[in-house]
Amino acid sequence: MSHYLNGKEKMDRTIHTERLLLRAPKLSDANWITKGLSNFTVAGNMLVPHPFEIDHALEWLLQEKNSNVPAEAQFCIDHQKDGGVGSVSFRRKSGNAQLGYWLDEHYWGRGIMSEAVKAAVQWYYASTRADIITSGVFHFNMASLAVQHKLGFVETGRSEVYCPARAADIEHIDTELTREAFEAAII
Ligand SMILES: CC(C)(COP(=O)(O)OP(=O)(O)OC[C@H]1O[C@@H](n2cnc3c(N)ncnc32)[C@H](O)[C@@H]1OP(=O)(O)O)[C@@H](O)C(=O)NCCC(=O)NCCS
Repeated sequence: MSHYLNGKEKMDRTIHTERLLLRAPKLSDANWITKGLSNFTVAGNMLVPHPFEIDHALEWLLQEKNSNVPAEAQFCIDHQKDGGVGSVSFRRKSGNAQLGYWLDEHYWGRGIMSEAVKAAVQWYYASTRADIITSGVFHFNMASLAVQHKLGFVETGRSEVYCPARAADIEHIDTELTREAFEAAII
């Protein structure tokens, strides 16, 4: 992860951490993704369709297949013992990369997402000259906010965002990370 992509190279999306492998999604991931995201406890914190069906997973998997742009990179997270457990994604929004992520409920509370998001953000900054990554959480999602705070994200405002699983507009804490804040946070 020592140089910027020049636009012609194939983007390498293989990241090894202590316990995890972050890698490009493949069509065979559709089943465990569907199982994880059809859980309301997960989907109620996200913008994904609800109920979440296998076609939604396939749509997501096909959509990203040909992208070679770091701001649109999507990673599946493999746990060293159990295989696919969640994902971390960037998507382009208002000129910046917007970060999103989720983890199968069975794996919550073990530091897995902190490990995965840190690695993905490190990868993003090593692959681009970009400064800002945006993200955010629904106002009640303190675990996700904690993951972001530890990496240097700060609150930039509040908005109302529709949550399909709750069929309601929910207050959203908008957040942002700068390269400098990230480097300071992970020392
Ligand atoms: C949010 C989510 C990704 C967190 O994954 P995780 O692997 O359990 O997170 P981690 O264990 O790495 O870290 C969670 C942190 O939140 C903290 N936390 C957990 N519940 C908390 C609460 N109610 N209040 C405050 N902090 C809390 C933990 O203590 C931990 O911080 P620490 O490492 O400083 O102790 C996971 O719960 C999830 O997938 N939720 C559903 C989907 C979702 O919310 N996606 C993000 C949308 S913004």
